[in-house]
This record gives sequence, C-alpha cells and structure tokens, in this order.
Amino acid sequence: MHRFDREEREILRRVLDIRGYDSNAFDPEILNELEADEEYKELLIKHAADILSSEKFLTLKTFIQHGNVTVFEHCIHVALCAIKLNRKLGINAKERQMVRGALLHDYFLYDWHDGEAPGNIHPKLHGFYHPGIALKNATRDFSLSEREKEIIRKHMWPLTVKPPRCREAWVVCMADKYASTLETLKLKKGKIRVNYA
Ligand SMILES: [Fe+2]
Ligand SMILES: [Fe+2]
Repeated sequence: MHRFDREEREILRRVLDIRGYDSNAFDPEILNELEADEEYKELLIKHAADILSSEKFLTLKTFIQHGNVTVFEHCIHVALCAIKLNRKLGINAKERQMVRGALLHDYFLYDWHDGEAPGNIHPKLHGFYHPGIALKNATRDFSLSEREKEIIRKHMWPLTVKPPRCREAWVVCMADKYASTLETLKLKKGKIRVNYA
C-alpha cells in the first residue's frame, strides 16, 4: 500500500482543507485570466508543442465536455489550473510531465454524451472507463513517460479506487475537479446573464 510521507500529507491537507474556503478561489473568471496569461501559454507550448500541434489532439475541439466547453478547452483549463495549483501550493510536481499528462487526461476521442458513438464502449460508465481508454489512445499516438501514464490512469480518483502514485497525478486529479467546477460555475453565470438580459 502506498503510504504518504510527511510532505505529501501536508500537500493533501492544504488542498483538501475546506476550513479556509475562499469563494474568490472559485470565481470562474480565473479561467479567463489563466487563458490570457502569456507566461502560462508559453509553458504549454514549451512542454507540449508536439501534442498541441497534433491533428488528432485537435479533434478534441469537436467533442463537448459539458455545456459549451469542448474537451480541448477543458484539457487546456486542466493543464493551466495544474500549473497554478502546483506553483501556488508549492507542490513541486515536475511541470513538463504534469502539463503533458493534463493535456491528454481526457484523450478518449468520442462524444461521451452519445451512447452510439464509435469508441463509446461503456456509455453508462463513461466516468469509470474513460481514463483507461484515454491512456490507450495516448500511448498509441504519443510517447509517454510512466508519470504521464499515471496521470491519465488515475485522474478520476476516487471514482477509480486506486489513488495516484506520484504528485504529478495528484495535482492533475485536483486540477481536473477544480477546472470542471469553474467551468460549471461559468456556465451557470452565463445562463443567468442570458435569462436576465
Ligand atoms: Fe476525465
Ligand atoms: Fe477532465
């Protein structure tokens, strides 16, 4: 069984402790700020130019993650949030592998809302099965390190029972939940604006 060392326990406490909950940390505007951040944009290109320019990766623009957010946008958001969490919380995850794993974490390449879509072999259990499908696709299309594979494999924890085994995978697991929450809040805000316009 994987045991957490002191440093890892401290990181977990800082990420999971909600006593210090700050609503500013959940302002969907954060996504726009991260997207507009030139330094972060350059980091994505520096670490993952091959992924970002691959035609196959760009097909993620044709799949919807939720609402009007494409899987492509979602993966960029997760990579950006991972950089931010890693730096702000001083987690010391290896940035390059973390970014690459984050970009590919949802590389399942089908419309998960469409039960008939080719590749969607477990439509009712998408949440449970898509990390494995994404990992299979990503290892076929890119050359990945063990940490990058672990990031993709474990990003749905705790749904998929075994916890992440490296800090890069922990950060992306958190960043995925954080980015999804912000995307959902952004969607709701958008709706309110439309309704009251
Ligand atoms: Fe996912
Ligand atoms: Fe995701």
